[in-house]
Amino acid sequence: MLKYVVAFSSKTGNTKAIAGRIFDALPVSAEEKEIVDIGESGFLMDAETYFIGFPVHRMTCGMDVIDSLADLHEVSIALFATCGAEPTESYKKEIEQNVRAWVEDDNEYLGFFLCQGRMQDEIRERYDSLRNDENMDAIEKMIENFDEALSHPDELDLADASFFAKTLAKGKDVKDGE
Ligand SMILES: Cc1cc2nc3c(=O)[nH]c(=O)nc-3n(C[C@H](O)[C@H](O)[C@H](O)COP(=O)(O)O)c2cc1C
Repeated sequence: MLKYVVAFSSKTGNTKAIAGRIFDALPVSAEEKEIVDIGESGFLMDAETYFIGFPVHRMTCGMDVIDSLADLHEVSIALFATCGAEPTESYKKEIEQNVRAWVEDDNEYLGFFLCQGRMQDEIRERYDSLRNDENMDAIEKMIENFDEALSHPDELDLADASFFAKTLAKGKDVKDGE
């Protein structure tokens, strides 16, 4: 049985980049860990601990991730995600709550990592097309956020993801008495 599986869903590559960094950070040999694209493989191998990643879509994860979570029992699970919005603590809590609801109770839940991820250009065009006299300020804010997201995930996000994975792995080793 593997020690870790990093399984991710990613439409435009942001969450995939975070998944890669989490995978690299896990302090075990190459034979003890696997990284899988949920969209490609559609199944999860047997492991002790799963890092499950997704892009935030409409404040939650996609059905592919919900289906994968439904298959996991009596294992340890950490979640990670990228989102277009500014990942404030309250936003992070909300997303975590929405997705954690799909983690079955017989698992050990380890925690959640969230960072910002670049959005597709069409979204900026859509904001622009919706602009009118009444919503000008709100649209300006959304465009500012869009532009802020363009550089994410950046080196700091990747380093934070690495820290997240290492910290959880260390915590598990201590708990397992290694
Ligand atoms: C259909 C759709 C819905 C989205 N909904 C949200 C959302 O509710 N909240 C948010 O912060 N970002 C939202 N985003 C932005 C993505 O979460 C963000 O760009 C993410 O980093 C994409 O990850 P990926 O490159 O792994 O696909 C949405 C993007 C799309 C395409």
